[in-house]
Amino acid sequence: MNPDHATPEVVVFGSLNMDLVLRVPRVPDAGETLQARSFMSNPGGKGANQATACARQGARVAMVGRVGNDAFGLALKASLEADGVDARPVATDAAATGVALIMVDDGAQNRIVLNPGANASVGSEDTQRLRRALAGARILSLQLEVPMPAVCEAAAIAHAAGCTVVLNPAPAQTLPDALWALVGIVVLNETEAAMLSGMAVRDASSAARAADALRRRGPAQVILTMGGDGVVIADAGACRHFPALAVQAVDTTAAGDTFIGTLCAALARGDAIDAGIALGIQAAALCVTRAGAQVSMPCRQELLALPAVPLPSVVLPR
Ligand code: RIB
Repeated sequence: MNPDHATPEVVVFGSLNMDLVLRVPRVPDAGETLQARSFMSNPGGKGANQATACARQGARVAMVGRVGNDAFGLALKASLEADGVDARPVATDAAATGVALIMVDDGAQNRIVLNPGANASVGSEDTQRLRRALAGARILSLQLEVPMPAVCEAAAIAHAAGCTVVLNPAPAQTLPDALWALVGIVVLNETEAAMLSGMAVRDASSAARAADALRRRGPAQVILTMGGDGVVIADAGACRHFPALAVQAVDTTAAGDTFIGTLCAALARGDAIDAGIALGIQAAALCVTRAGAQVSMPCRQELLALPAVPLPSVVLPR
């Protein structure tokens, strides 16, 4: 928590969305009207989610992004501030606040349709605010729900300032070579890894091969999250597989964001990457047992009550 907005350790540059969530028994067919089991709205957006998850693990966090001049924008900024995130570098835009329409089915899987709104206006004005927010920070966290030129500019500023750049290439899209060279840690899921590597990702072995292929493009570490199948990390030494914790999932929304925010908090306080991954697995395990995005994210104290994540096994030694 950072209620006084002291120098942030982690800065998140990215999206803020209001999530409008319908629980449905299944996804409707074309032309079909289906009755939802329930409706909720809660703060979301990959950027704001990662900032919140990180702050709940005790890091000092600042958020740079854009919202509209509307009730959703006010609510999203207030929610960040309530978690101690410095939301002053979130600007107000002429476009409406980003909105995500989410359907979560009985299998806990989600389908998301995004209207980016103000997130689409993020650009060089925002990277100038980022430059100021980064003074003294250790980590910049990036995702791809804001325009790619701004993401690349943000990564270049942070890299030049000596920060570790953590990139979550979600939603998946091709990355410019220059961006690969600026990023220290890439965190992505199976779909994103398959799209970016052109390789099938089915299990820990294939995940290790894809992660290692992506690592060779520049990042020191590539971390591939696979939900109930655990996490694979590829670094210069080896590829290691961490098993997942067995939980009863009700909603997987923001599980990846929770993992990343928790990992960034651990790295910011000087933990080794394996310890950060283990904490990220615990936090994501708790997140999927609850409905929603930011409302489902655990605080640091809650992780202590969970079983420890077993030590990783090496899947691709070098
Ligand atoms: O990663 C989950 C997030 O994706 C949701 O909160 C939604 O806003 C979309 O951006």
